[in-house]
Order: sequence, then structure tokens, then C-alpha cells
Amino acid sequence: MPNQEFPVPLTDPLADPRAQWLAGKTAAVAGGGLSGPLGNVGFAMAWLYHRAGAQVAVLDRDNAAAERTVAAITEDGGNAKVFEVDVLSQESTSTAVAAAAEQFGSLDVVATSIGGGGATSVFGLSEEEWDRAFDLNLKSAWRLMVASEPHMTNGGAIVTVSSGAAEGRGPAMPYSLAKAGVEKLTTGAAATLAPRGIRVNCIRVGMIWGAFAARGMDEKMREIRRKNVALQTEGNPWDIASAALFLSTDQARWISGQVLSVDGGGFAIRSTGAAGADTLQKN
Ligand SMILES: NC(=O)c1ccc[n+]([C@@H]2O[C@H](COP(=O)([O-])OP(=O)(O)OC[C@H]3O[C@@H](n4cnc5c(N)ncnc54)[C@H](O)[C@@H]3O)[C@@H](O)[C@H]2O)c1
Repeated sequence: MPNQEFPVPLTDPLADPRAQWLAGKTAAVAGGGLSGPLGNVGFAMAWLYHRAGAQVAVLDRDNAAAERTVAAITEDGGNAKVFEVDVLSQESTSTAVAAAAEQFGSLDVVATSIGGGGATSVFGLSEEEWDRAFDLNLKSAWRLMVASEPHMTNGGAIVTVSSGAAEGRGPAMPYSLAKAGVEKLTTGAAATLAPRGIRVNCIRVGMIWGAFAARGMDEKMREIRRKNVALQTEGNPWDIASAALFLSTDQARWISGQVLSVDGGGFAIRSTGAAGADTLQKN
């Protein structure tokens, strides 16, 4: 028998953490193709959006990868469709996004996982390498935002992806500079799009294992990387995608313009000279 004098206040949707937060909504994921057997961030985002009830537009330049994601979602009873795109071209991006919006009516969530390259020092690299890193990591996110905004509903959300390489005093690489730009683009876009009710957030990805990392790393390097993580475990694409899901739903309705590090606590401080270093467990 409910207490009439002191009713339990459960009227807010946030009181149910397991709600189908994206039911009836559309999510577009750039780089959402399943790019390898280890899985990748874009695929994991697309899958979680589907599991949260959304219909999913899978935007990818690799048609076979995009078809794998769509097949997985369709087999699971969901609704997804491939939209071939090259985010290095504004025309291609605008065409694909417009086609996705037309197919599904409008866009509520737009996420991108696309990035990479340019992991060499700024000293001794070609201008083409510099431009490519900025094009792939930063301009691609900008192109996607510009193409998507007119099709997005009020209350929509955009999620971008940067990297731990963008923080601290690490070496200057075009990749890290471009990812730092993604973070600034995110906070700026959040301010600009706030009057439209669109939230924009970024996930700063730590050292995860997945298709992206496996392309440039052997097992020895992987183990060194794991030990450099404060929690001593490596993350995977699901760690990133579940943060993206949270930021994409009304569970995060009051969060915008943020850069969320999903990185196992960041780098472990192993320097013996650092204050408090002797309190860290050695292994
Ligand atoms: N793995 C790590 O340790 C790590 C660390 C920090 C940041 N990150 C970031 O995470 C992201 C990696 O995400 P992922 O796992 O989804 O990557 P992924 O490279 O496995 O997948 C990217 C997808 O994007 C598609 N794609 C690439 N270029 C494209 C283009 N020009 N147009 C359209 N589609 C294109 C690919 O076909 C692929 O399906 C990158 O932004 C990377 O910088 C990764």
C-alpha cells in the first residue's frame, strides 16, 4: 500500500537506470563498421545504441565492415542500415548523413569513433602526414557535426572520441595535437549548440585493446601498456562504448561540453622519485 503522506519520489526517468533510453530514437555512428574480430569502438557504440532501443545508421567507408554491424544488429532483432561515407570529404559526409536522416526521419544521437595515424614526432615528418592526422581526427569530427546538426532533434547528443595522447606533456605528435583539437571542438560545439538543446561530449580514450591497437602492437608491447595503466588492466571497446551510451542518453541530460577520460585511472606513476611513488604496489 503506497504511503500517501510521504510518496517515494520516483517520477523522474532517471530513477530507472535500466530503461530503454533510446527507444524510438535514431543513432548514427561514424566508423560503426565491425572492423576486425577483436571488435572496435564504433561497432560497440552501434551495438549498445541498438540494445538501448535505437535504430542505427552505420556510417563507414568500409562497406563490408558496416554490413557486418548491420547483420549483427538485424539478427538481434534491431533496425540498422549502412550508409557508405568517407569522412575525409564534406560532400560525402553531408550526403551520407542526409540519407540517414531521410531514412529514419531525424537524428537523435551522432557519434564518431574515427581517428588514428600521425603517431610520429612533429619533428621530421612530412606536411602531408601532419595534414592527414588533422583531417582524419579533427576535421572529420567537424564535418560530421556540421552535416548532422540541421538533422538533429532538440535534446540530441553528439559524442566524439579523443585520446590520452592529448593530455599531459607527452611528445608532440600530429595525432595528439589533432585529438586536443577534438576536445576543444567538443567544448566549443557544446556551447554553440546548447541553445538547440544538443549536448556534445568527448571521450578521451585510454589504452584499450581492440582492432585499432592490434594493428600496430605486439603482445610484448601490449603487456607493457597494461602495466602502465593505474588499474593494471587494459580496457576494450566496450568500456568506451558504454561511456558513449551514457553520454548519449537522457541519463546524461545535464552533462555537456565535457571530456571524460575512460582510461583505467590513467598512467601509473612508477617514477621512484615522485612523491608517494613508494606507496604504489610494484608488479
Ligand atoms: N586503441 C587505443 O588504444 C586508442 C587509444 C586512444 C584513442 N583511440 C581512438 O579510438 C578510436 C578507434 O576507434 P575504433 O576502435 O572504432 O577504430 P577502428 O580503426 O578499428 O575502426 C574505425 C572504423 O572507421 C572506419 N573509417 C576509417 N576511416 C574512415 C573514413 N575516412 N571514412 C569513413 N569511415 C572510416 C573504418 O573503416 C573502421 O570501420 C580512434 O579515434 C582512436 O584515435 C584508441
